[in-house]
Amino acid sequence: MEVIIVQDAAAGGETVAQGIAALLRRTPAALLGVATGSTPLPVYQALASLVRAGGVDMSAARIAQLDEYVGLPQGHPESYRSVVLREVVEPLGLDPASFMGPDGSAEDVRAACEAYDAALAAAGGVDLQLLGIGTDGHIGFNEPCSSLASRTRIKTLTEQTRADNARFFGGDIEQVPRHVITQGIGTILEARHLVLLATGENKADAVARAVEGPVASVVPASALQLHPHATVVVDEAAASKL
Ligand code: GLP
Repeated sequence: MEVIIVQDAAAGGETVAQGIAALLRRTPAALLGVATGSTPLPVYQALASLVRAGGVDMSAARIAQLDEYVGLPQGHPESYRSVVLREVVEPLGLDPASFMGPDGSAEDVRAACEAYDAALAAAGGVDLQLLGIGTDGHIGFNEPCSSLASRTRIKTLTEQTRADNARFFGGDIEQVPRHVITQGIGTILEARHLVLLATGENKADAVARAVEGPVASVVPASALQLHPHATVVVDEAAASKL
């Protein structure tokens, strides 16, 4: 595992964006796994600047979603599909048809999960998976004690994660769905390159446990230690307990 410490969130976004751009120069039709939450936004902004400056061509890039809420009405602004369309696909001028994600409004959620794993494999697998980290050490929505071999499946959110994410739902935890679909840890580990970005002091504990603690399902992000090509980009605040 490579750990890169940068000064702040903007530098983290720039560093990760440069890595993605380098991949796209080698592999223009790369399948990029994208994450939601606040942390990756500087990455998408830096990528948009690179695209505008002609520094990278993303016209052939493909995008895959990491996770999704279950039960939000289609088109809900906080469904991760809506978020990825708004924050990634539209600003980067990507083809919406090249964007894949799990169907959180499917009647048969289990079938939707299996279909998504199959679709990822059929697409040739994820070339680079961008990850954030939850304050409880989760990746995607793999909450503590998720099997390290898990596949895409339905999960129940912890109260901590619902509280963390309430800010996207007007601060009302009751509006945060209880169930989600997430790529499993085993699914995530199949990506050819994992890039975890963490910024801010509130991530310092989770980062230290993920990077320096034992590999354990109670800290899902520690699974990155098992991956042959994992990069952790942290700002000084998030690195403060390393
Ligand atoms: C959610 C997402 C994760 C993300 C995490 C941290 O739970 N499912 O993919 O990493 O939030 O979000 P933030 O970057 O806003 O702290």
